[in-house]
Amino acid sequence: MSRIAYVNGQYVRHADAAVHVEDRGYQFADGVYEVCEVWQGKIVDMPRHLDRLNRSLNELQIDWPMARSAVEFVIRQVIRRNRVVNGLVYIQVTRGVAKRDHFFPAEDVAPSIVVTAKPTSPAASQVQADKGIAVVSYPENRWPRVDIKTIALLPNVLAKQHAKENGGKEAWYTDADGNVTEGGSTNAWIVTKEGALVTRPADNGILRGITRAVVLDLVQKEGLTFDERPFSLDEAFEAKEAFVTAASTLVMPVTRIDGKIIGNGHPGSVATRLRELFHTATDLQTA
Ligand code: PDD
Repeated sequence: MSRIAYVNGQYVRHADAAVHVEDRGYQFADGVYEVCEVWQGKIVDMPRHLDRLNRSLNELQIDWPMARSAVEFVIRQVIRRNRVVNGLVYIQVTRGVAKRDHFFPAEDVAPSIVVTAKPTSPAASQVQADKGIAVVSYPENRWPRVDIKTIALLPNVLAKQHAKENGGKEAWYTDADGNVTEGGSTNAWIVTKEGALVTRPADNGILRGITRAVVLDLVQKEGLTFDERPFSLDEAFEAKEAFVTAASTLVMPVTRIDGKIIGNGHPGSVATRLRELFHTATDLQTA
């Protein structure tokens, strides 16, 4: 079975899927995206992801390429046509195709939409979670609107590549005050020696992660102590636990930061429990 992608109104073989050379996403990174988890045949938190897509589109004055219900329909179709049971669905909307010019194109230029889905291995992710990952700090060098989920990810690409070349799986951006903002494609958390969960407030300095929001719901349901405040890299080195969250990693324990062992060097009990409970707090819709 060949993979299928949805591109601007058509389901096409993934191998043949393409956008126009003058797509503004290609030329200007003038677009936004979402990544949703597919878990046991269910789409995880689709309403929250599409709410965030709506916000990103509004911030950039890009119209929905079609009705939100139609986007939901396509997401389901792409998951089904690719028979993805566990995996990720990717939705990208750009300002559309127009002769290269920085100004927004004429009103009648339709936004482009691409939806793809791919299987992932929960078992492989669990192997990683059982071990914990290493992260490598990196100076924050992104624009001040990282709350918009744009496809302009070059700084993230460079930060993550730097992490990889230094033995890490993820980069942690640190701002001028020495505080951790977030990961290259994840939100960042620590658990203090006193057992309080800490994650940076979702201001313009981080992407308001859906996984982060679900974990905050869980933390409150479980009656755990938490504090939405900035934390420094030094505080993270001293933390009992650290972890990252994203649709692609869920709750992923961090056991090393810049080569320093965090806690006892093993995934912490809080992160492990939140990972186990994660899907109990999500909205699950049949694909
Ligand atoms: N990344 N911060 C950044 C910079 C991200 O790119 C992401 C998600 C997150 C976590 O958001 P969420 O919990 O909604 O997935 C935080 C996606 C998965 C990606 O780019 O692949």
